[in-house]
Amino acid sequence: MCGIVGYVGNRDVKEVLLSGLGKLEYRGYDSAGIALTTKKEIQIIKENGRLEKLEKKTKNMNIQSNLGIGHTRWATHGKPSDLNSHPHFNKDKSIVLVHNGIIENYLELKNELIKEGYDFISETDTEVIPHLIQKLYQGSALETLKLLQERLRGSYALAILFNNEPDTLYCIKKDSPLIVGKGKDENFIASDIPAFLEYTREVIILEDKQMAKITADEVKIYDENGEEVATETKEITWSIAAAEKGGYDHFMQKEIFEQPKVIRDTLSGRLSALTTDVQLFDTKLDINHFNRIYFVACGTAYHAALIGKSLIEKMIRIPIEVDVSSEFRYKDPIVDNKTLVVVISQSGETADTLAALRLAKEKKATTLGIVNVVGSSIDRESDITLYTSAGPEIAVASTKAYTAQLVCIYLLTLYIALKKGKMTEPEFEEAKKEILGLSHKVEMVLEKVEDIREIAKKYYKSKNVFYIGRGMDYYVAKEGSLKLKEIAYVHSEAYEAGELKHGPIALMENATLVIGILMDDRLIEKTISNLKEVKARGAKVLVIAEEGTDLSDTADSVIYIPSTKKEFSSVLANIPQQLIAYYMSIFLENDVDKPRNLAKSVTVE
Ligand code: M6R
Repeated sequence: MCGIVGYVGNRDVKEVLLSGLGKLEYRGYDSAGIALTTKKEIQIIKENGRLEKLEKKTKNMNIQSNLGIGHTRWATHGKPSDLNSHPHFNKDKSIVLVHNGIIENYLELKNELIKEGYDFISETDTEVIPHLIQKLYQGSALETLKLLQERLRGSYALAILFNNEPDTLYCIKKDSPLIVGKGKDENFIASDIPAFLEYTREVIILEDKQMAKITADEVKIYDENGEEVATETKEITWSIAAAEKGGYDHFMQKEIFEQPKVIRDTLSGRLSALTTDVQLFDTKLDINHFNRIYFVACGTAYHAALIGKSLIEKMIRIPIEVDVSSEFRYKDPIVDNKTLVVVISQSGETADTLAALRLAKEKKATTLGIVNVVGSSIDRESDITLYTSAGPEIAVASTKAYTAQLVCIYLLTLYIALKKGKMTEPEFEEAKKEILGLSHKVEMVLEKVEDIREIAKKYYKSKNVFYIGRGMDYYVAKEGSLKLKEIAYVHSEAYEAGELKHGPIALMENATLVIGILMDDRLIEKTISNLKEVKARGAKVLVIAEEGTDLSDTADSVIYIPSTKKEFSSVLANIPQQLIAYYMSIFLENDVDKPRNLAKSVTVE
């Protein structure tokens, strides 16, 4: 994710940048750095690790400057390290910049620049940009940025300094946020408003492909052709505390609404290059070497693993073993040097999952980590890593990380299918189209937020909730049930729909809430019968189903979601479950972001 800031004016630039970065640390905290223009040169100070290290390092530095930029990093390309930290210079240190986003064609650009004699010192995608600017520069910064945008693919918010223009800050953006804060004789830029809210409430929100030229007394915005455009200045009325959550009431709510972008970021550049390992993993994977595959994880990540099993077995017809990490580590699992153990973890620090990974390595397995936090223990110790690009997840209840894990599992499934020759070109193209369409479909589900809130209001007093489904829908149901327990503190269980009559149906009474997940068209009729059975015994029935599913006489409430290929429906079916749990928790007046007895990262056994 990453956060960027910039300032031009008469305050202590270093202090403005550091305080802004402090407000953006939620966007990443792998490293922090600043660049300041001084009379002689542009000076960079950066530190691997959290912002406080940079604050300590710069505490007694008194740097005379009126212009600077800063960055807090969420590592994507290249591990957290001094060299990979931003800002990044070009070769003669005349251009420096900070970047939030992912440059999808960086490898192609890097090869081109290396052939032309440019040297690279980091593993980042970002470093191609200052070199490319140097190559394109013909005397006009704006003209160069116009050409630069034509060459970059992917997402970027860039703040750029040229040492021959010591009073001017340049910015461009596409698919990553960038906001200008307008002050009196001073101006600011940042990835998010809280970074400068203590100084100004007047903002301009830059649109994609716009370019900004900013001095202390002027902000000029240009379109991608270099034509100056008129912009609207808005006044921010939120408090600083509300602004940190981007105007949302809770981090969980914010993270739920970030999911369309998370899907795009996790897919970024990967679907089109699925056969080249290097775009997908951080090192090569020889999938045909293995005769057994395990998925191991805890909690929500375990539920993503179950979807992985279902998908791979269905699409590729190879058996997959799945275990929760705390079971795997003590069951003496059948693992050897022909086994691939896939561990899934948002934090990359979960004690049981880390122990499972170490056990797998002891037994000579190859380990693949699907991890959100770059540089975490599981990332470092896995032989191979496939990163989810969810950005920092702050709410204890995992939402966007689960979605990113599912997207990675979809990518992994297609990768294995292609490598094993289990997918034809048209099948691949169809799957690709479905996956690419998911982010928009998630947006469509999120538009139903008010209806879902009303449904949560109707049922939040339920004392017992059952989530039921068949096949993959059952695994989705498990995630819905966990979320409800975790933040609403409502007792709930997930059941395979067909199992109800073997015992749990005895618990059905007036007003028991049963939530049915009905995405698998082969099994819908069967699950509908099970729902009718519980309804006949007094239960209230809420169904999550594809548009067009006939639920007359079955459901008391329905949340329809856009139709999609059932293999990839879990992402969509889960969104209403997140919102139901979120709003029930709100109506029950719980602490949504920090539920009782829980921690974000479970580093004990
Ligand atoms: O960081 P991890 O993905 O390894 O965490 C695993 C579980 O602790 C986590 O998913 C937990 O179940 C969540 N709080 C669920 O929302």
